[in-house]
Order: sequence, then structure tokens, then C-alpha cells
Amino acid sequence: MTSPVEQAAELLRRTRFLLVLTGAGISAESGIPTFRGKDGLWNRYDPQDLATPEALARNPRLVWQWYNWRRGLILKARPNPGHEALVHLEQHFGDRFLLVTQNVDGLHQRAGSQRMVELHGNIFQEVCTRCGFERYHEATYPEEALPPACPQCGGLLRPGVVFFGETLPEEALRQAFAAARQADTALVIGTSAVVYPAAALPYEVKNHGGRLIEVNPEATPLTSLAEVSLHEPAGRVLPRLVRLLHSRNPKA
Ligand code: APR
Repeated sequence: MTSPVEQAAELLRRTRFLLVLTGAGISAESGIPTFRGKDGLWNRYDPQDLATPEALARNPRLVWQWYNWRRGLILKARPNPGHEALVHLEQHFGDRFLLVTQNVDGLHQRAGSQRMVELHGNIFQEVCTRCGFERYHEATYPEEALPPACPQCGGLLRPGVVFFGETLPEEALRQAFAAARQADTALVIGTSAVVYPAAALPYEVKNHGGRLIEVNPEATPLTSLAEVSLHEPAGRVLPRLVRLLHSRNPKA
């Protein structure tokens, strides 16, 4: 009887195009809190107060305190072995690979991932709500500087992330669904698979005959559809998966 991770490695060996979808769970072992797991952020804060256009209009300072706090956590964090394993997978599959992340923390890029799209934006991107000025600003603000003003027109800057109820970046979405249509395997890691349209991607792969591998310590709506479920932390099981994929002898 082969172990689930050996089954997953065997499935990857037979994969022509790999789509990887990641969520907050892949950054958990870097010390970044998730949203809905047992000690998730949405258990302590109401997303409607912090991550909607209405919240930004109503209380820009509070919204910026939240994003500034998360920026501080992320700047202290480092990519973990789960992020690093995905860089090896990208090198293994070459142009038959796309990493689609829902995360805004930039840890995939810091690990070295390149063939990737950010469906929900990036926490260090900033956009002026008045003149459209944009910049990438990988730093936190001193409390007294919140909310930050546009250096061009003085208008309110907002974080370049997708708030609840907003449309996702068109090009990222187009690339993600094009990859999902091409993929014969989707490796879904660290997502509760409840937020759309990101959560539609694994179903897109499944619907045209592709197979799912899920990496999540907890069950999700995708678990019953997965060919292989790895109920372990990503930082622990993804390096093993990559080693098995590279080893000639599948029993290694
Ligand atoms: N390894 C793998 N998975 C993990 C780990 C880990 N070490 N730790 C937790 N998880 C799993 C949890 O079991 C949970 O299923 O990661 C998942 C995280 O789910 P969410 O917190 O809902 O995060 P995500 O799915 O990325 O949320 C999607 O919702 O709040 C919005 O825009 C936000 O991008 C986010 C979107």
C-alpha cells in the first residue's frame, strides 16, 4: 500500500500541466495568521469592518491600522519550506506550470516563485483612491502617518488588495482560468476553498477530467473530490513530495 504522499508523487509524475492554488495556510508556518482556521483572524475581527470598500470609506485609519499591522508581521516573516518546495515544482514543470495564490503577503515571490499570479493583489501595493497613482511600498507606516496620503495629489491611498465585493485583477484571473483549463492536475494547498472565484479553479480542473491533490490538515469542500488528500502542514509534506517526485525509485 503506497502512502498518500507517494500516491501524490506518482500522480505528479504523470502530470503534463500543473496548476497550484495556495491560500493562507501555506504561510501559517511562516507565522502569518490564517483567516478561518481554528485560530483564524476572522474569528477575532469582522472582515466587514476591515476588508471592504465601505470600511475604507467609513474608517480609513482603522483599515490602515489593520493592513499596517499585517505588513509588520509579514516583513518579520520568512518563506517556509512549503513555499520553497513550490519553487522546486516550478523548476521541475517549467512552462507547464502556474502558481495561483490568494495570498497578498508576497512570500511566494520572496521564496523565488516566478510563474505565478496574485488573485487578491499584494499588501505592499498602494493605489490612490483619487488620482490612481500606484506604488509598491514594502514597509510599514508609523501610526501617526495613517492613513497615508498620495504623494501626487494628497488623496487617500488604499492597499492594493482585493476587498470583499470587489472584482479581481482581470489579467491574473484570465491567466488562472486559462491554466485551469489546461491543467491535468491541481495541487490545492492551505485554502478553505470557500472564497470565489479562486475556489472555482479546482472545480474547473476536475470538470474537464483533471485530478486534485489537496494539502490541508483540515477537511474542506474539496476533500471529497481529491484523488489524494495530504492532511499535514504544507511546510512538512511539500518538501517530502518534491523529494519523492525527484527520486527515481518511488519507494524511496
Ligand atoms: N498547511 C496547510 N494548510 C493549512 C496550514 C498549514 N500549515 N495551517 C492551516 N491550514 C489550512 C486551514 O485548515 C484552512 O483550511 O489553511 C486554510 C486557510 O483557510 P483561510 O484562512 O480561509 O484562508 P484562504 O482560504 O486563503 O482564504 C481565502 O478569503 O479572507 C479572504 O481574501 C482573503 O485570500 C483570502 C480568502
